[in-house]
Amino acid sequence: MTADIPIRRRRRGNAIVIVGAQWGDEGKGKVVDEYAGNADMVIRFNGGANAGHSLHIGGEKFVTHLLPSGIVRRGMINIVGPGVVCSLDALREELVVADRCGSSVFLDRSAPVIHAIHRWFDAARESGGNAIGTTKRGIGPAYEDVGARRTVSLGDLVNPDRVRNALIANGYYLERLAAARSYIDVTIPFPTLDEVIHELMSYRALVMPRLHDTRLLAHQALADGKFLIFEGAQGVMLDVYYGSKPYTTSSGCTAAAVGSTFGVHQFDAVIGVAKAYVTRVGEGPFPTELNDTTGEKLRKEGHEFGSTTGRPRRCGWLDLPALDFAGRMGGITQLIITKLDILSAFESIKVCTDYEFEGRTVGPLETLTTRVLRETVPRLLPMKSWGDLQSCRNLHDLPATADLYLDLIRQRTGLPIVAVGTGPEREQLIR
Ligand code: IMP
Repeated sequence: MTADIPIRRRRRGNAIVIVGAQWGDEGKGKVVDEYAGNADMVIRFNGGANAGHSLHIGGEKFVTHLLPSGIVRRGMINIVGPGVVCSLDALREELVVADRCGSSVFLDRSAPVIHAIHRWFDAARESGGNAIGTTKRGIGPAYEDVGARRTVSLGDLVNPDRVRNALIANGYYLERLAAARSYIDVTIPFPTLDEVIHELMSYRALVMPRLHDTRLLAHQALADGKFLIFEGAQGVMLDVYYGSKPYTTSSGCTAAAVGSTFGVHQFDAVIGVAKAYVTRVGEGPFPTELNDTTGEKLRKEGHEFGSTTGRPRRCGWLDLPALDFAGRMGGITQLIITKLDILSAFESIKVCTDYEFEGRTVGPLETLTTRVLRETVPRLLPMKSWGDLQSCRNLHDLPATADLYLDLIRQRTGLPIVAVGTGPEREQLIR
């Protein structure tokens, strides 16, 4: 009987989501750039300037933290959505790049602003014994205020009274000041109300002309038959719900966060980006981590230093149970594997095929909790690596050993691999 119920197609355009399928830093910038060649709009929907999306174009390196990777494309419309917490210093720096490259940027009026109070609390908490290794960009405290419904929005920057009112509503400033006093060991001065207002207002001229109802822009574009890319920051394993608490970021990192901030729920593809190995920055469990010379070699070969904080990234072998979990939680429909060439530097490699936990194999549909990730013994399969990949122009050119590796990923995750990264440049993403 259900077959008789008509299905109405409500829009003409296309929407894809590109998300990290590990702990961030998977190379999403390059993948977004690849799809942006055919797109009309690139949209950031989560996180803030804690992200660092690198692009190598014509020998030049661009890193975006807050704005979408589409800013390097002439004529591209780039959007910062209502769920992105906005650092205005990062905005200023990246708008220079957008202007230089001839792209346009629209910011959602209701997007929350990160201010000095958020940065103060992030730094204060990270200076104590319970540090989780945040980027110290104020992300966590800003999202706390989103949840508590007490943010300053970009639209408030229209005049200082609006900003002041937002900061004193329901005793916000005084309450934060009182809370700050409990950090007795922290010597960083707490910002005065006037300092916060003054700093925010200094960005007024930059922000005002770019404010828009970005949901309207996205829905209008879909109705007009355009192609939209939703660019995720961080990765499924750092998602505030799916990640291992408390070692997560503070926003949703999957297509669900597109739904909850833009009201776009149907996608033509949800592309999960994963490195051929794994890295993680900050604290938290990491089952395949290599605390030895092999890990150091991975870090050196893969240039694994944070593009936001410069911190050395923790490195380890590819973790298939975690990738499978991320695929399932993230609603991922296809994978792109980046940095396959980095493993060429090794004679032999390993890949984690299963987790042993409390004397049993973790089942394929189980939730990977902090305890499982922390206490698991990864089952590692040794494999031969492959030689240089520079001459490979498409997936069929890959050596048999690399093919076998990709097959393992396909089998364990049940997902197709639609492209593979063989180097940092635009052309080095082969299909
Ligand atoms: P926060 O997002 O700055 O609060 O940091 C929380 C955790 O997420 C820390 O472990 C960070 O290192 C990690 N994190 C946040 N953003 C990124 C990213 O873009 N790549 C990798 N790790 C990130």
